[in-house]
Amino acid sequence: MKKTIRDIELNGKKVLIRVDFNVPMSDGVITDDNRIVQALPTIQYAIEHNAKVILFSHLGRVKSEEDKEKNSLRPIAQRLSKLLNQEVKFIPQTRGEELEKAIKNLKEKEVLMFENTRFEDLDGKKESKNDPELGAYWASLGDVFVNDAFGTAHRNHASNVGIASHMNDVVAGFLIEKEIKFIGGAVDNPERPFYAILGGAKVSDKISVIENLLNKADKIFICGAMAYTFYKALGYNVGTSKCEDDFVDFAKGLLDKAKGKLILPVDNVVAKEFAEDAESKVVNADEIPNDMMGMDIGPKTIELFRKELQDAKTVVWNGPAGVFEFDKFATGTNEICKMLSELDNAVTIIGGGDSAAAAKKLGFEDKFTHISTGGGASLEYLEGKTLPGIECLNDK
Ligand code: 3PG
Repeated sequence: MKKTIRDIELNGKKVLIRVDFNVPMSDGVITDDNRIVQALPTIQYAIEHNAKVILFSHLGRVKSEEDKEKNSLRPIAQRLSKLLNQEVKFIPQTRGEELEKAIKNLKEKEVLMFENTRFEDLDGKKESKNDPELGAYWASLGDVFVNDAFGTAHRNHASNVGIASHMNDVVAGFLIEKEIKFIGGAVDNPERPFYAILGGAKVSDKISVIENLLNKADKIFICGAMAYTFYKALGYNVGTSKCEDDFVDFAKGLLDKAKGKLILPVDNVVAKEFAEDAESKVVNADEIPNDMMGMDIGPKTIELFRKELQDAKTVVWNGPAGVFEFDKFATGTNEICKMLSELDNAVTIIGGGDSAAAAKKLGFEDKFTHISTGGGASLEYLEGKTLPGIECLNDK
């Protein structure tokens, strides 16, 4: 068990909070502020407990001076200020006199945010390579360290692991606590039956997740283009579907090892071309025509998944069932959202990334027990890996 922000004294302290405000932006405008919203409970708790709050995050990847302009945290500080309904003092530096002075003058309950931690990457990748001097410097700015950046927990960077190694009080914020409870809980100690639904385009992206979950889940439902690599392993014709030929043998091995635990789509919606308005039809698993490609799971598969999921107590879902970006081929993904939201007695978790985006796009945002804020981090967590950003927290 890791210590959380509830376990330490915050009153009058300079509290460093690492958040993951790496949010999608388009022309300087935030297109999805979920990660900011999800960090509010920790920030509000620190304010209520009379902390002097110092926030920081990375945004994007910074390799040039132009990247700096594109990736300033200023608009994010402004959005946070609106959400908190209080001023967020923005310091456009990652180190130096202005920042140190602003922190020195910070009063209890005030909030300050400094500039994108990856600006430090321009000079020798100091942030991303966890430069010891940088971690020590940032640690020197505060009294205690709260890590709430789950989306970055798979990184070993100066702004999480580096700072942690130079401070005594290193604890989780409420978001990390929630992610550990739901994703960690599902992987390590799920209420059974525990089912995983794994979709997305590539088997190669999900190898370690499938391997890890084969040992833990009671059944794994495969969907998305990934299914066609499994079809090829079974000797089915896949037409022009996306398929990773290099992973056909691996898929064969998994099918042998799984002993019936892996459930593949029994039918598919296929189309002649990869387009929004492509003409389509439904065919059985082993009947994909030579000149057509799989775009979504079919109606028989949807019914099969629905039936098999009925007794679920825990479900983790990662990766869409089809090309959900095109309305015509979003039915499978939509129906998975629906069937999971109708499971009254199950803990339902979306493991971040595309499936989280799909659930939001299709209007199911509030219908799951938990939607992870991680992309790469939740995938690595599902793979059973130790995440450095969690590992570095104090144990209870
Ligand atoms: C993410 O969005 O997955 C995290 O914020 C990590 O970002 P990164 O892949 O640039 O390290």
